Amino acid sequence: MNQWESRWQEGRIGFHLPEVNSYLLRYSDKLLTQDPESVFVPLCGKTLDLPWLAGRTKKVVGIELVHKAVQDFFKENKLTHSIQQSGKLNLFSSDTIVLFQGDFFDLNKEQTASFDAIYDRGSIVALDQPERERYVNHLMSFLEPGGRILLITLEYDQNQMTGPPFSVPADEIEWLYAPYGVLELLETSDILDERFRKKGLDGMLERVFQFIKH
Ligand SMILES: C[S@@+](CC[C@H](N)C(=O)[O-])C[C@H]1O[C@@H](n2cnc3c(N)ncnc32)[C@H](O)[C@@H]1O
Repeated sequence: MNQWESRWQEGRIGFHLPEVNSYLLRYSDKLLTQDPESVFVPLCGKTLDLPWLAGRTKKVVGIELVHKAVQDFFKENKLTHSIQQSGKLNLFSSDTIVLFQGDFFDLNKEQTASFDAIYDRGSIVALDQPERERYVNHLMSFLEPGGRILLITLEYDQNQMTGPPFSVPADEIEWLYAPYGVLELLETSDILDERFRKKGLDGMLERVFQFIKH
């Protein structure tokens, strides 16, 4: 069983929020400024941001590795859905939300079409450093020129905790995304709380970026 599978089976999902993400509420006008038909949410877990976004666009497409996460999402949100195979992945479809279940790197643009808006919270920070460049390269294949990403990252002293979530410093974000477009830091907040203090951290920053593809 991989580490994400065990986390979901054992309920170790401290990243899951019981409400819609406050940065999404604050910056959705930037993400949705072009009135996109659909939004892509990579590594989506069972976030409540999915139904919130579905109330503002025609379709939300997510991808999540763990079957239990996807199952729980549809059950907890009382959404009737069908399940079919799509390449190596399972595809769970309801009226406005479709979730691919499987490895993001096995998903391609032919299965989803491409997007003008991507919402990435807790995704790039879920991947270790060697995988992050591959992740950004692959993510870019889903984004149209002029398309936007609302990106939420974490930054802390990686020597104090192993992760995930991993620390992805602002200069690494710049290095990863700048070749593809324009990156703007919208906000930085200090979010150190008891949960992370107990893990040995003495600082934890959350950053919000807007990215616009060339
Ligand atoms: C930190 S959580 C964030 C979930 C969600 N974005 C949120 O805000 O609640 C990262 C999620 O990515 C999933 N994941 C990790 N590696 C993945 C991969 N290669 N493909 C698809 N999902 C993956 C994990 O199972 C986990 O649910």
